[in-house]
Amino acid sequence: MTRKVHIKTYGCQMNVYDSQRMADVLAPIGYATADTPEGADLVILNTCHIREKAADKVYSELGRLAKLKAAKDGMMIAVAGCVAQAEGAEISRRAPAVDIVVGPQAYHRLPQMIAEIHRGAGRRLDTEFPALDKFDALPAASGATGPARFLTVQEGCDKFCTFCVVPYTRGAEYSRRAASIIAEARNMVATGAREITLLGQNVNAYSAEGPDGKDWGLARLIRALAEIDGLARIRYTTSHPRDMGDDLIAAHGEVPALMPFLHLPVQSGSDKILDAMNRKHTADEYRRLIDRLRHARADLALSSDFIVGFPGESDADFAATMQLIRDVGFVQAFSFKYSRRPGTPASAMPKQIAEPAKDARLQELQEELFRQQTAFNLSLTGQTLPVLFDRPGRNPGQVAGRSPFLQSVHVTGPLSLIGSVAMVEITGGSQNSLGGQLAHAEAA
Ligand code: SAH
Ligand code: SF4
Ligand code: F3S
Repeated sequence: MTRKVHIKTYGCQMNVYDSQRMADVLAPIGYATADTPEGADLVILNTCHIREKAADKVYSELGRLAKLKAAKDGMMIAVAGCVAQAEGAEISRRAPAVDIVVGPQAYHRLPQMIAEIHRGAGRRLDTEFPALDKFDALPAASGATGPARFLTVQEGCDKFCTFCVVPYTRGAEYSRRAASIIAEARNMVATGAREITLLGQNVNAYSAEGPDGKDWGLARLIRALAEIDGLARIRYTTSHPRDMGDDLIAAHGEVPALMPFLHLPVQSGSDKILDAMNRKHTADEYRRLIDRLRHARADLALSSDFIVGFPGESDADFAATMQLIRDVGFVQAFSFKYSRRPGTPASAMPKQIAEPAKDARLQELQEELFRQQTAFNLSLTGQTLPVLFDRPGRNPGQVAGRSPFLQSVHVTGPLSLIGSVAMVEITGGSQNSLGGQLAHAEAA
């Protein structure tokens, strides 16, 4: 009998990858995926705990799902991801309709948990960090489709930035063996992937045994993956400035498949705040790192994350962040108001910043970042760029893809372009995307 599972994903790209893997784990026991919760036998919320708002969304969604479940016999609700890990017991208390709570390191056991419920066992909760490698327990074949895919190579974090829940929700740093990553990448390419983004909470801290028995870092892994026939593009995210080794910087200049776009979060431009955040580097060390990266790859485009209103952030500290943004120049960025997370050191710090001040700083920061982003997009007008087409465009007759710098590019062209890289002459741009026309027949 086929059953249906609907998976709703919140949070980061690693959750996107995990949601696909949950679908892969459930396929052999008869679950097909459904686009909506209505009509699904199992609804999984793959949740994010990073900021208060993200976590709150889960409870409001659970309220809606509880009504759906009451109206439908036999529907199951599961909460997975980082809220499951952080608030397992509280979820069961606040949302009695939830049948399964499963943490990010335990979801390969979903089939077993579902079977137990069918046998009449009560609600299931599994938030262990098992000794067993989750990745070894996942099926080799994936139902994923599409030219651009995510592949988790590293998970967890030992950095303990004072604002962040990830070390608690994802556990200690762990890197997958290179051979298993290469095998998964080959599978992806065999099923149509042209671009792979390597994922990790600290992806450039990657360190694991290579097929040669030696310890491989991220640069070595990227060089090996670049040899896979048919894989045109490699990206990685998210990296920490502290783990940007010489070999990885060099790879940016030497591996053509490694795209000239790097998301390298800095969070703040004030040394005092960076120290209070436990980021373990100064603003100038970040500037010098950017110089070295641009020396290796002149056209490298940079992206970052910023937090405004961290406890103790003065006007001068915020001004230092604005200065760093002007000095470096970012083509894209994510910026957030500091959100107090239970159990993190920063939540107990004095001098918490009032909400209106956070709002004002966020607005000023985003104005500058959006200005830089728009200026960068417009600066590409007249250039010809390789675009990996991965989806239909907004309007009929249009097709859309990504530039090397991760911008969305829209052109008039046939849907048959999806899955290939073609040269596009850029004719214009806005804050969020580029427009262009196909330059000539399909390129590499
Ligand atoms: N591992 C990555 C980031 C993971 S979280 C890194 O080290 O950069 C993604 C982003 O969410 C962070 O970069 C940070 O900007 C933001 N973030 C994390 N905790 C936050 C909090 N408590 N309040 C506001 N933003 C937060
Ligand atoms: Fe969180 Fe810091 Fe680890 Fe990034 S490096 S996941 S911000 S603790
Ligand atoms: Fe959120 Fe967990 Fe990712 S807290 S950002 S889903 S690692």
